[in-house]
Amino acid sequence: FDIAQLRSETGGHVTYDPGFMNTANAKSSITYIDGDEGILRYRGYPIEDLAQHSSFIEVAYLLIFGELPSEDQLAEFDQTVRKHTMVHEDIKVFFSGFPRDAHPMAVLASAVSALSTFYPDSLDPHDEREVEVSTFRLLSKLPTLAAYAYKKSLGEPMLYPQNSLSYTENFLRLCFGVPAEDYEVDPEIAKALDQLLILHADHEQNCSTSTVRLVGSSDANMFASVSGGINALYGPKHGGANEAVLNMLRRIQAEGISPEDYMEKVKNKEEGVRLMGFGHRVYKNYDPRARIVKSTADSILKKIGGDDELLDIALRLEEKALADDYFVERKLYPNVDFYTGLIYKAMGFPEKMFTVLFAIGRLPGWIAQWREMMQDSDTKIGRPRQVYTGAPERRYPGAK
Ligand code: ACO
Repeated sequence: FDIAQLRSETGGHVTYDPGFMNTANAKSSITYIDGDEGILRYRGYPIEDLAQHSSFIEVAYLLIFGELPSEDQLAEFDQTVRKHTMVHEDIKVFFSGFPRDAHPMAVLASAVSALSTFYPDSLDPHDEREVEVSTFRLLSKLPTLAAYAYKKSLGEPMLYPQNSLSYTENFLRLCFGVPAEDYEVDPEIAKALDQLLILHADHEQNCSTSTVRLVGSSDANMFASVSGGINALYGPKHGGANEAVLNMLRRIQAEGISPEDYMEKVKNKEEGVRLMGFGHRVYKNYDPRARIVKSTADSILKKIGGDDELLDIALRLEEKALADDYFVERKLYPNVDFYTGLIYKAMGFPEKMFTVLFAIGRLPGWIAQWREMMQDSDTKIGRPRQVYTGAPERRYPGAK
């Protein structure tokens, strides 16, 4: 199509920007990214400091309310989140309607959407009290629903949450515990998972967050909007990359190709082969999250024992790539997904749960961005324009 024609037809007011690569759709004070320098901050705090010193529940408070909580505020917030972890018994019945082999992401998105039907008292997006209640409901119940989606896929019975446990510990027990036995949560695994959730907690206007905002811009309630975000994250170009990394490492291992030979395939663009877990639309420097994940991978895999051979392949691929002109010229560095799959796998999660873990991590960001949008007087219903490329006016056969 003719861009000059678009300009003249709209008086120069409409831009054609597929993927919104150059269009800001929101003002936001939540997350700052400098992709050239490899900087990520939540509410001004460097991701490195938060990953080392904070907890996921504190980061959730920070993202949603804008400030770090005092000790008392954190204790109260944590207690309230723990109090709401149970889901209505009828939601469990709802789970039994899905096919056994349903993907847990599809089940999770449906279950979150269904929360609107179970909690009609907290749906008004402009009622402060109702927004507060749905914030707690969603934060508290998402791990329960995610674990139920997992148990459903295994055909195993669902456990009730145990609210003496922390957010991450509770989730691990719900996933890996069985009713007849005690389940001892490994504190190091819980800490490592907590840190990974922090790293995923927000990333400004990515695809799923933009979806949450777009759905919410019609004044749709928080459950409906977040369910939309989960569906967007489900796509392999967004949340599914860590699964793709693991598949790539497995393929290299199974076919007995050396990492060096695989790199040649990538550089020659054979069969569209890419080095999965490398490159990012915004980061043209080392993804700061990837640096932290790499050191977590080093320590946690040593402790719980992962697949050493796959880790070795990953380390050799990274080493080769960082010294190779192809990657250097294109500013391709490992992204957050390069090592997360190896860690999740070592923790005992199957591949189809990887994106579900991402969703649990991203939830505070989705909630914070949705609330920010609802409070912004500049918010308008999302309604992009288009460039029409179809037929000119035609007569329907037989019409006068
Ligand atoms: N391996 C090999 N080459 C690559 C890779 C890669 N992983 N990523 C980009 N390139 C090359 C492209 O072939 C292209 O080369 P060319 O100029 O010779 O044609 C150049 O680098 C630019 O690539 P684009 O696709 O235009 O870069 P874009 O910013 O649009 O893509 C993306 C970013 C989609 C993340 C890409 O780097 C990629 O496909 N990476 C692998 C998948 C992945 O890890 N995704 C997770 C992203 S992080 C997240 O979602 C949480």
